[in-house]
Amino acid sequence: MSETAKISVAQQKGGVGKTTVAINVAGALNQRGRDVLLVDIDPQGNATENLGMPEVYDDEPPTLFDCLTDAEMRSHVTEIVREHEEMDVIPSNIDMTAVEPELTLSRRSGEQLDAVLEYVADDYDYVIIDCPPNLGNLTDNALYAAQNILVPALAESTSKRAFELLYDHVDLLEADYEIEINEVGVVVNRIDVRKNQAQQMVEWINQAYDDVPVWEVRERADIQYALENGSSIFEYNDEADVCEAFLNIAESLDSQFGFASPSDSEVVQA
Ligand SMILES: Nc1ncnc2c1ncn2[C@@H]1O[C@H](COP(=O)(O)OP(=O)(O)O)[C@@H](O)[C@H]1O
Ligand SMILES: [Mg+2]
Repeated sequence: MSETAKISVAQQKGGVGKTTVAINVAGALNQRGRDVLLVDIDPQGNATENLGMPEVYDDEPPTLFDCLTDAEMRSHVTEIVREHEEMDVIPSNIDMTAVEPELTLSRRSGEQLDAVLEYVADDYDYVIIDCPPNLGNLTDNALYAAQNILVPALAESTSKRAFELLYDHVDLLEADYEIEINEVGVVVNRIDVRKNQAQQMVEWINQAYDDVPVWEVRERADIQYALENGSSIFEYNDEADVCEAFLNIAESLDSQFGFASPSDSEVVQA
């Protein structure tokens, strides 16, 4: 049995596909029979809403805010886990909008999420953390807890600067906390094959990060419809062509983290 794999989906720009990638990679891992916990630490709560649970965003305490800001409340995280048909979810909450300054008050400001996840992570094969669109304290908490990063990016020239800033920040965090953060891959998202720019960007990323897998996800309305419908693409339309891209990511993650492929376990049972 492999240890729980924790992966933060992070990039400081908004709208690049963090939430989309987090939910659909979780959906693809579920298709492969993995137990997944998705953690929405973005105070805007997009993943919480896109998984069809907008009402829990307005829940009364205890919420993730309390678990992160009060050491005595950490164990209460088990009470806030919600079930979705494809995965379990630690939802965000409106209270999370006040968490950044509160976290700064604690001596080990970047280690709070890690301490909270200790109460739940063991029950899952994967913990996927959907980060907010900045490199603040919450993203640091996600990176510290996961020590693995999956980076979504758009296929446009501004992404080059975004990569530089992100990896500079990761380097700083590694030095500050004396940890190593492993890059599991880059997802070039919203690719429009009619535009040359997309292919140029994929080539640039492949050259710049030659030891990291680079996946391509096309611009597809079905992805948006699925999220509006409260699920990954797999619940919404498992015949959509983009399913393959997310399944490829899930397959690579299983191999990177030492989970046997579904066909392997079928062979064992046969
Ligand atoms: N491959 C895609 N095809 C079509 N729409 C997409 C795709 N990826 C993301 N979107 C849409 O783009 C918007 C921003 O994506 P999102 O995942 O919320 O970004 P982030 O979490 O980085 O802010 C959402 O409305 C989402 O539905
Ligand atoms: Mg998001």
